[in-house]
Amino acid sequence: GGDFNQKIDYVFKVVLIGDSAVGKSQLLARFARNEFSLESKATIGVEFQTKTLLIDQKTVKAQIWDTAGQERYRAVTSAYYRGAVGAMLVYDMSKRQSFDHMARWLEELRGHADKNIVIMLIGNKCDLGTLRAVPTEDAQEFAERENLYFMETSALEATNVESAFLTVLTEIY
Ligand code: GTP
Ligand code: MG
Repeated sequence: GGDFNQKIDYVFKVVLIGDSAVGKSQLLARFARNEFSLESKATIGVEFQTKTLLIDQKTVKAQIWDTAGQERYRAVTSAYYRGAVGAMLVYDMSKRQSFDHMARWLEELRGHADKNIVIMLIGNKCDLGTLRAVPTEDAQEFAERENLYFMETSALEATNVESAFLTVLTEIY
């Protein structure tokens, strides 16, 4: 319920980017519907979901866009980034390569998005503690150098998911 007849003060577009299988779609499912699936299929094209929140007595409609990490399934890049005021740059903390690719994703983001976009670096799958391949300090260092917010999350255990999205939405506002 809740959404019906509600006056919306702001609509904020937030985009999710990062390699395939890092958990972008499941982070979105967790945030928007409090759902999670281990049998998540690779995203093809673009999907989006909305969630309406109250921030500072204002009704904020978050419109979260999710696209394929796999090049061959990706949507038209410029359209995806157009109008985005927030971005979640997601890697899998058990896959070093997905973190090493963050610089490239950031470059693409900065090349297409508004220069004032709020960016959050997300190390997802922190429930896989023993398989960690990216030390927290490495990600923190990268985030500081590039002026990004940073959090480690688990879509599976619902750790920091709400907090990560709320931080971005609050900073936009
Ligand atoms: P593309 O759509 O191909 O770009 O991938 P994606 O980034 O959207 O990944 P997706 O959300 O589909 O998740 C990929 C796999 O990782 C699925 O099997 C998920 O269940 C799993 N997964 C996602 N988040 C987590 C998490 O926090 N912990 C664990 N253990 N697995 C996760
Ligand atoms: Mg996906």
